[in-house]
Amino acid sequence: MQLGQLSLTLLVLMFRDTSEACTTRPHINALEGEPFFLKYCSSIPENESSTTKWLKSNGSHGQAELRPSSSPRVTMHGYALEFWPVELDDNGSYFFQMGNQTHEWRLNVIRRSKHNCFTEKQVISKTVEVGKALQVDCNHSYYQNLVNRTALYKDCEKIENNKNPSLKKNAEFKDQGYYTCMFFLHHNGKLFNVTSTYKITIVEGPSTVIPVILGPEVRHVEVELGTDVQLNCSAALNEKDLIYWTFRREDGQEPNEHEGEEVKARTSEGKWHASRILRIENINEKNLNFSYNCTVSSEKGQDTKRFILLTKDRRDIPGHVFTGGMITAAVISGVVLSLVIVAVICRVDLALFCRHLMRRDETLTDGKTYDAFVSYLKGSRPEPGEERAFAVEVLPRVLEGRFGYKLCIFERDVAPGGAVVDEIHSLIEQSRRLIIVLSTSYMFNEVRYELESGLHEALVERKIKIILIEFAPVRDFTFLPQSLELLKSHRVLKWKADQSLSYNSRFWKNLLYLMPAKTAPPRGGECEAEPVLAGNCP
Ligand SMILES: *[C@@H]1O[C@H](CO)[C@@H](O)[C@H](O)[C@H]1NC(C)=O
Ligand SMILES: *[C@@H]1O[C@H](CO)[C@@H](O)[C@H](O)[C@H]1NC(C)=O
Ligand SMILES: *[C@@H]1O[C@H](CO)[C@@H](O)[C@H](O)[C@H]1NC(C)=O
Ligand SMILES: *[C@@H]1O[C@H](CO)[C@@H](O)[C@H](O)[C@H]1NC(C)=O
Ligand SMILES: *[C@@H]1O[C@H](CO)[C@@H](O)[C@H](O)[C@H]1NC(C)=O
Ligand SMILES: *[C@@H]1O[C@H](CO)[C@@H](O)[C@H](O)[C@H]1NC(C)=O
Ligand SMILES: *[C@@H]1O[C@H](CO)[C@@H](O)[C@H](O)[C@H]1NC(C)=O
Ligand SMILES: *[C@@H]1O[C@H](CO)[C@@H](O)[C@H](O)[C@H]1NC(C)=O
Ligand SMILES: *[C@@H]1O[C@H](CO)[C@@H](O)[C@H](O)[C@H]1NC(C)=O
Ligand SMILES: *[C@@H]1O[C@H](CO)[C@@H](O)[C@H](O)[C@H]1NC(C)=O
Repeated sequence: MQLGQLSLTLLVLMFRDTSEACTTRPHINALEGEPFFLKYCSSIPENESSTTKWLKSNGSHGQAELRPSSSPRVTMHGYALEFWPVELDDNGSYFFQMGNQTHEWRLNVIRRSKHNCFTEKQVISKTVEVGKALQVDCNHSYYQNLVNRTALYKDCEKIENNKNPSLKKNAEFKDQGYYTCMFFLHHNGKLFNVTSTYKITIVEGPSTVIPVILGPEVRHVEVELGTDVQLNCSAALNEKDLIYWTFRREDGQEPNEHEGEEVKARTSEGKWHASRILRIENINEKNLNFSYNCTVSSEKGQDTKRFILLTKDRRDIPGHVFTGGMITAAVISGVVLSLVIVAVICRVDLALFCRHLMRRDETLTDGKTYDAFVSYLKGSRPEPGEERAFAVEVLPRVLEGRFGYKLCIFERDVAPGGAVVDEIHSLIEQSRRLIIVLSTSYMFNEVRYELESGLHEALVERKIKIILIEFAPVRDFTFLPQSLELLKSHRVLKWKADQSLSYNSRFWKNLLYLMPAKTAPPRGGECEAEPVLAGNCP
């Protein structure tokens, strides 16, 4: 006989037992308001003529005999005492006497619950294995002939209502619950109901599963230092299997790691699931990159999965990708930085190169005559010999002779005497740049006054750009007119006689850079039109 059949048989037997024809149990519960009976169990057939007596104990007053006349609710049929229905007053001890034989029952009448269709005290428990047959038949062996209608309730909700409701199916976990058969019967024109309730528990069969921890083999959990985290390990397992965390180190356990209780539950399909929390408080470095192992173990074997805490920035980037990314980023930034540095350092060369490449020429359309007016210390003082030589000889030799610019040099191109101030004004207006060969004494020279007004005008009107050449080191620039301070510092070029001679030297490159772009070929160093003509360069 299979287990299922056995349990089914047991279940049916139970049902019959509750509807037993005679009352064997000495302690009996009855529900207030329901028909109820006590029946003496005897091998001797019922005999109307035999003398039988029903007695009820009457507290300290001894026993009182029950007669059909004592209560309209109580009737006697042979060996049976019937209540239509039983009430709370009927609580007490009952005695059946036949000849010199006496049988006693203790009756406990239970108050009816207003909220429930059954009372827990009268419930008969039954266990059925999942997947096996579950059968509920509502037959009442005693009242059977009186039953007009029967209803079957599950957890007090009606599921069937006919003469002989019955439930027969393969047990599922959702079938678990309280099943109540309610028999409706008529007696003396009144409708009564009698209930029998069974508590059905569905249990796991003897089959076992191989336990498994749910989730990936290694789980990386992102955390922040100083916060708390709960690692939730869950498993599919058997009821008796164990799930636990392994987190002890060789030198013991970290004090901020706490293992929670195992929580086990069954799904509606009857499978067991368990979960167990590992709580880590105030996460520190020692909790990181450590394998917290969760294990489920059973007779059939075990399964372990790992949890590893990582801080946010280390997240999920595999080591080699991370390193590779860092190297790439470093290389790119390095290259960019180098390019920027090169661009800054070689700004002038790059600009000159571009000018050359694009054959740019700023001088074609502005209608000016000179590329630069050269202002320098003139006069009869003994010192200015070098400055004068630079302005009158070196500058033209390079700018005009080598690079094809056209300079206006007062001493060379303007005859002494005459309306000097006016002339200087118009010459400056005719020039694209104003080159000032600067030295301390320059500002104390008479040219200063002539120049200053022109300078100012030029600066304010933005018709001319000024190039300062610091011929001899100047300690203090405060002597310069304020207007000159507007100049950007890179427009001040330092002449270093020993280093600046070569055409390729930085000084000349910077000077060319500040000079207007021009594509004219190199030519001779004089004013173009009438070089010998004293007066101006028209
Ligand atoms: C069953 O009988 C009791 C007592 O008479 C009554 O309170 C209850 O409503 C009845 N149940 C049904 C379903 O008729
Ligand atoms: C009933 O019992 C009496 C004596 O107790 C006996 O004489 C009689 O035969 C019995 N009747 C039946 C039908 O068994
Ligand atoms: C119990 O005894 C008292 C006093 O003798 C009596 O009044 C009462 O009716 C008795 N009860 C029963 C059920 O016989
Ligand atoms: C009913 O009788 C039993 C003993 O038979 C007693 O334990 C119980 O307290 C009684 N209940 C009431 C409500 O009187
Ligand atoms: C019961 O009474 C009968 C006579 O009526 C007697 O034979 C029998 O022994 C008695 N039994 C007991 C247990 O007293
Ligand atoms: C219940 O009663 C029906 C007919 O009244 C019968 O066929 C069935 O076998 C009974 N079941 C049990 C378990 O007694
Ligand atoms: C139940 O009782 C009602 C009224 O007494 C009657 O009309 C009906 O036929 C009965 N039903 C059954 C199934 O006995
Ligand atoms: C852990 O996970 C299981 C399964 O996903 C879930 O049922 C349980 O509620 C979780 N526990 C906590 C504390 O979140
Ligand atoms: C967890 O498992 C891994 C691999 O099986 C092992 O290297 C590690 O030491 C284990 N951790 C603990 C705390 O036992
Ligand atoms: C984590 O530990 C492993 C060895 O257990 C090591 O190989 C790895 O480099 C460590 N990773 C980090 C991010 O510290």
